[in-house]
Amino acid sequence: MDIDKAINDRISVRAYLERPVEKAVVEEILNLAIKAPSWGNTQPWELAVVGGQAKTELTRELQNLVMQGTTPNPDYTMPNNFTGVYMDRYRMTGKRLFELAGIARDDATARMNQFVSMFNGFGAPCLVYIIMDEILDTSYSVFDAGAVANYIALLATSRGLGTCLMAALAMYPDPVRKCLNLPSSKKIVLGLSLGYPDPDSPVNRLKTDREELCRILTWRGMD
Ligand SMILES: Cc1cc2nc3c(=O)[nH]c(=O)nc-3n(C[C@H](O)[C@H](O)[C@H](O)COP(=O)(O)O)c2cc1C
Repeated sequence: MDIDKAINDRISVRAYLERPVEKAVVEEILNLAIKAPSWGNTQPWELAVVGGQAKTELTRELQNLVMQGTTPNPDYTMPNNFTGVYMDRYRMTGKRLFELAGIARDDATARMNQFVSMFNGFGAPCLVYIIMDEILDTSYSVFDAGAVANYIALLATSRGLGTCLMAALAMYPDPVRKCLNLPSSKKIVLGLSLGYPDPDSPVNRLKTDREELCRILTWRGMD
């Protein structure tokens, strides 16, 4: 698949088939994804893949924490102060997602179930974690880690797989560290769900909008 098609086809996949993902395919994707650029080639990322029984146990623990109302303690601050157009876009994404899922505004149970399903990676057979050492600066190093995450998403798309970049999977980092046998010095940046998309699920029809290029682009000296 060419890169334009992978970019056009990639969406956040929020429903997966049970079909397992071959380890060799995941390895191929990650081997390419780590070719992403980084500040001075510092390559601030580490990666982990969780599948099978380990994934079942980890996500059960994460879902229990959510259902118990445990306050999240992510390693990296989660934004919670969007305003203006940014808040509008954020709300629109949630609104369209709930509409596609057939969840009414006042259906608190269904909304909670949808929320809790995030902590299971939406049922994907495996999760990919992006990890950084605590000695790393959080600004450009997180930017670099984001490049790897997006490369993974595009490489997965080009192989018929789906992903969702998920901050939710990093909201409770302690069980993730326990699962991966990591010391507290290793910080959990983000998780991605990875698997074969369920083609029949309405939530996988969500194609989010983008602002028109001319509204966010400035040209100078290019005429
Ligand atoms: C850093 C980051 C964190 C995200 N976390 C979540 C998440 O926790 N749950 C979720 O359902 N989607 C999550 N997303 C997916 C975004 O909602 C999605 O990328 C956005 O709505 C644009 O839609 P698209 O990916 O289909 O183009 C995240 C995306 C990014 C880049």
